[in-house]
Amino acid sequence: MRILVLGAAAGGGLPQWNCGCVNCVDARAGRLKPSGQSSLAVSADGRQWSILNASPDIRQQLQDSPALHPRGLRGSPIASVLVTNGDIDHIAGLLSLREQTPFVLCATREIHAVLDGNRIFDAVSREKVRRHPVALDQPFDLHDGLEAMLFAVPGKVPLFMEGDVVDTSLVGEQTVGVRLSDGRAVVYYIPGCAHVPDDLLARLGDADHLLFDGTLWDDDEMIRSGTGTKTGRRMGHISISGPDGSIARLAGVEAGKTFIHINNTNPVWRPDRPERAHVLAQGWQVAEDGLEIVT
Ligand code: MLT
Ligand code: MN
Ligand code: ZN
Repeated sequence: MRILVLGAAAGGGLPQWNCGCVNCVDARAGRLKPSGQSSLAVSADGRQWSILNASPDIRQQLQDSPALHPRGLRGSPIASVLVTNGDIDHIAGLLSLREQTPFVLCATREIHAVLDGNRIFDAVSREKVRRHPVALDQPFDLHDGLEAMLFAVPGKVPLFMEGDVVDTSLVGEQTVGVRLSDGRAVVYYIPGCAHVPDDLLARLGDADHLLFDGTLWDDDEMIRSGTGTKTGRRMGHISISGPDGSIARLAGVEAGKTFIHINNTNPVWRPDRPERAHVLAQGWQVAEDGLEIVT
């Protein structure tokens, strides 16, 4: 299986348009590698591809990835697009895929309902782009030779659908992880996860590789850096550090491990920071755009 990181950053990207944090400043100045928003491309055979989450940066991400270029006058090697929640960083890119080339759009019924409820997505032709509602825990094919299965992970409704009271630990169809298998290797992709329950840990026992939510290093990172008012918990994202953080909770998972969906405030972007060294020492890598994982 080939996994291509199209965008390693969380919503907003690195740099984010309105952010003057040290990471964003350094990314603008060329001292840190910029990163697009959350997306992967996956292939079982290097011929057909599936996009996991369609980020607002998808046009440039496809442009930067020769494997994903058209091979004829019109068309695309992209057979399907799967979205794991209804957040803007994962769905807005669908609007850039509206130009009459067929693919299958896979998501849970609830996530399809979010798209169906926003008429702008009708611009993605239903004749050409078949909507495929996927049930949790039922394997299906993303393309020939690449099987996927969706499972619920703790999360919340998309930011733009939040009401006055927000349950940040919903377990259902609104936030899912993906198990990918090509018959040889098993890869898990979980770009958003509020915490790691024991049943999720048990599920990961057969992983060869895990790509996991690396949004924040610390729960209060955005508050301390002065860039925001929300904790990671409030955003439905587990932190990397701490006793209940992802490094601690996932320490027993014996697989290749990669942090993805990394917020621009996160110190792990920086090669000079101890947080980065710690992550590497714990057996994780930090994704960057263009990173390819071959299993
Ligand atoms: C998130 O991952 O929390 C969302 O992408 C936030 C957003 O939509 O800006
Ligand atoms: Mn996001
Ligand atoms: Zn920033």
